[in-house]
Amino acid sequence: MCGIIGYIGYRKASEVIFKGLRKLEYRGYDSAGIATVSGKGISAIKDIGRIDDIHAKRNFLQLEGNMGIGHTRWATHGGVTQKNAHPHTDSTGKIYIVHNGVIENFDSLRAALAKKGHKFVSETDTEVIAHLVEEEGKKEGDFGKAFANAVAKLSGSWSLVCMHQGEEAIYLSRNGPPLILGIGKDEMFCASDVPALLDYTKRVIYIEDGDLVRFTREGYEIKNKGKKVERAVHTVTWTAKMAEKEGFDHFMLKEIHEQGGKIREALAADASGAVALLKGQQNITVVACGTSFYAGLVFKQLLQSRLGVNCDVIIGSEFAYARTGNERVVVAISQSGETADTLSAVRLAKKSGAKILGITNVTDSSLWRESDATVNIAAGPEIAVVATKSFTSQVAVLSKIALTLSGEKQEISSLSDASEQIEQVLERAGELETLASRLAPHKDFFFIGRSLSFPSALEGALKLKEITYLHAEAYAAGELKHGPLSLLQKDVVVVALAPSGTSLPKTISNMSECRARDAQLVAFSDSDEAISKSALHFRMPRVAQLAIPIVYAVPLQLLAYYMAVKLEKDPDKPRNLAKSCTVE
Ligand code: F6R
Repeated sequence: MCGIIGYIGYRKASEVIFKGLRKLEYRGYDSAGIATVSGKGISAIKDIGRIDDIHAKRNFLQLEGNMGIGHTRWATHGGVTQKNAHPHTDSTGKIYIVHNGVIENFDSLRAALAKKGHKFVSETDTEVIAHLVEEEGKKEGDFGKAFANAVAKLSGSWSLVCMHQGEEAIYLSRNGPPLILGIGKDEMFCASDVPALLDYTKRVIYIEDGDLVRFTREGYEIKNKGKKVERAVHTVTWTAKMAEKEGFDHFMLKEIHEQGGKIREALAADASGAVALLKGQQNITVVACGTSFYAGLVFKQLLQSRLGVNCDVIIGSEFAYARTGNERVVVAISQSGETADTLSAVRLAKKSGAKILGITNVTDSSLWRESDATVNIAAGPEIAVVATKSFTSQVAVLSKIALTLSGEKQEISSLSDASEQIEQVLERAGELETLASRLAPHKDFFFIGRSLSFPSALEGALKLKEITYLHAEAYAAGELKHGPLSLLQKDVVVVALAPSGTSLPKTISNMSECRARDAQLVAFSDSDEAISKSALHFRMPRVAQLAIPIVYAVPLQLLAYYMAVKLEKDPDKPRNLAKSCTVE
């Protein structure tokens, strides 16, 4: 949440930062700003709205100089206003700072600074940091020391990028949200995420918690607890092209279309470390959030039904309250590997002695580095805010792990068939576009499924509500009669996932119950009977039980996508949301 970037070198800083912010916009997009230093001093442009709209109005490229910082915001403290947009500055207007995270003691810091005469123009916690650095600078001539002293007074979570007039250097501090240093020739970068740097360098350092960094165009110095430290330089394998739309109207559509190939890559992932860690365990705990949590539900069902192993799946933010404290193995699932709720669960579990298996899409993310064993789901950069290909790749990897543990490796081939079945669904995307037109006038949607199609129902409802802002919720099909059935009436849509298999007859009965209440029934099914009961349908290919969560996710993603487009919503950047939730 919030994208931050810094640059020093020979290029026009505002151009590098503007382009980089566009790549980081998935992290927040309610406002944005850039500050640069030139011979004329420090200048800044910031405003509310999307980066391109602000640029069209204010022209970021008028900012001169070869050093600067930038920010794209997902509001935490203070509303979405021009004053609350970053960068923020101190009383002198010479110190500029951008921040990702939440400063928990900002109220007391602000009050103490106000007593000393500091005046604040915004409601943000970030502005307080700029003033704190200014205040520390009055006692300490060296800017680096003033910055370090200010950081030492903060509590909460942050990634900070700070510069000041009079020195060609940028200062960083990390405590939580990710921060990467990019190493170029006669130029240096920092950013929240790799895509912002791919046009310039592939050599990166992952800044660690507690690190204080000073970088210039020639190099960098990293200190932790006052001592100089070395950090490994990694070479990124992602390419700039992978983070482009490549002819698709939206990243979401591109990412949906990549899934056939990505499943094959996910199934080829090296899961040996995961299998070694989980082998023989009778109690496994999964932690994850959102879509990744739903992938965890699939894993639970496979582990319990095929291995007889007990598996608890706990939402990251609930782990602290729900855990026993005796967890021996915790499987953390996170596309970004940076979700604060999931990471804080991992850290708690580690403290009480649990081993961590990290399943993530980002090698070298915090989750990757903090886990005892890892699996890379290999979905490639996922830029759209909503998860699509990461879900199906997570499920593929988790299914492979479960089948390897249960000694049913031969069944992995039914998952390979999912690739082909996804392609078949994608070829018929036009039918889903038509279905979306029929459903777009409706306001309430229920998704139902049983067994392995229940997590897909949850995922289908989440996709729809996230990007269309329509009311959508999911239930295990048998659960409707225990309450939610009272909401059904004409115009309410029930999307029933009804794959052939042992659960089908009962799902069909539940569909009949919905039809009897005049709901608008839409079947996603390969069964003639289920389809004949429904007002509308999308005929699914017949898929193996194991492949249901993967293959059924795809038409639901497309349905949500086309409905968002019909309703003129931006599917890549849903309101109020941001990818990679780095605050709790
Ligand atoms: C939904 C979505 C979110 C994420 C959740 C966890 O479309 O994208 O629900 O799944 O924020 O994110 P990761 O997987 O990065 O931990």
